[in-house]
Amino acid sequence: MTSTSNPPSAVPVSDYDPFTAEALADPIRYDGELREYASIVHLAKYDVYAVTRQSELRQVGRDRKKFSSRSRAFADPSPFKPPLMLMQDPPEHTAIKKLALELFSKENLRTLDETFHEEAERLVAGLLTADSVELDAVESIGTKFITKVFLDALGAPEEGRELLKHFADAALNSTAPKNDLYYRKHAIGAPALEWVERNTKRETAGEHGWGKQIYTMVDEGRLSEEDGEQLVKLIFAAGFDTTVGSIVNSIRAFADNPEQWALLKANPDLLGNAIEEVLRYYPPVRYTGRVAAAESEVDGHLVPEGAPMMMMWLSGGRDPRFWENPDVFDIRRENVAGHMTFGVGIHACLGQHIARMETRAVLTAMLAHVDSLESAGVPEVSDNMQGFGFTKVPVRLFAAGKH
Ligand code: HEM
Repeated sequence: MTSTSNPPSAVPVSDYDPFTAEALADPIRYDGELREYASIVHLAKYDVYAVTRQSELRQVGRDRKKFSSRSRAFADPSPFKPPLMLMQDPPEHTAIKKLALELFSKENLRTLDETFHEEAERLVAGLLTADSVELDAVESIGTKFITKVFLDALGAPEEGRELLKHFADAALNSTAPKNDLYYRKHAIGAPALEWVERNTKRETAGEHGWGKQIYTMVDEGRLSEEDGEQLVKLIFAAGFDTTVGSIVNSIRAFADNPEQWALLKANPDLLGNAIEEVLRYYPPVRYTGRVAAAESEVDGHLVPEGAPMMMMWLSGGRDPRFWENPDVFDIRRENVAGHMTFGVGIHACLGQHIARMETRAVLTAMLAHVDSLESAGVPEVSDNMQGFGFTKVPVRLFAAGKH
């Protein structure tokens, strides 16, 4: 009997370069054009395969046997990029992730949640000292809040914290081609790398918080000293820019859509859904990677063995085949938790509960203190290859009950 299904075809080819200044300034548009071209595209300039649509991202992300993490597109070693977890397959990945998840036990999360809410309340109440205030949400809210709560949770010293944003920025530009931007970010991040490396050592990371917990695992013989150091470094690299991003991106989305803020003020029980919608609409991580462990098929196209792949999470969150009116920010959107802003499958984000809790704490404080908000200038998009976010978001906040 002959098969009626068509044999797989070659992956469509494109000369799209995701790393030009134009693409970095508006990845929603340009990655979106790539998604509308095909579900998987061979980017000829870099010889990598970009997976662009929601359902194919889910298929590839969940199939860790065919699509491995032992290598990834643009995954050359960089001191900003610890090799563990993201670059591992089972069984090594399973063992280290299980240990790392202990850092986010229910009890730890409960304690952290209280602290996040207290700090957010202090920060936001302190900003709303007049009927209306104009500020940059990146500097005055996102960076300030995360520098305090995230680095306290890690147990990092106060001195030098302001450097961390450069480390995180370089880290989010290191799984990317070695172009001028890559080297510039690495150079700016160098002093921060020194600070991070100093503070991932047992003597400095071990006082309290996650650092102490990680070195306790080392002492108990459950983790090697080297992996302990790398795990602290990985948390430094993965948890800063991304969460500044989710906070700032939410403020930007509400400033541009004031009726959605009014809706949330009237229905605070929508907050959880609103946070998921912000994550879908403005995802702080644009892409990550995989490698095809064997010749495989994606949407009827043949992916060669060894193909380095880009998982285009940002583009998937705007896929009109899956999302109705994807470019509309709507906090009532149904099934929005199906977004893949935290990835999917065994490598799904380790810190996603922390990220959601931090964003929730800030938005809760804003719900209490901010009546309405509006944009107060043109936001600046970060020149970040792997991340998506803003370096400046000018907003005006109108204090609750003061006008
Ligand atoms: C809104 C904030 C965040 C976003 C959007 C985000 C996004 C992601 C994504 C997309 C992945 C999946 C990678 C893949 O499948 O290729 C990932 C993995 C990871 N994230 Fe996050 N992340 C965020 C916050 C955090 C925080 C706060 C931490 C640490 C406290 C963290 C630590 C990690 C780690 C260690 C992994 C690797 C997990 C693994 O390989 O199993 N992330 N993240």
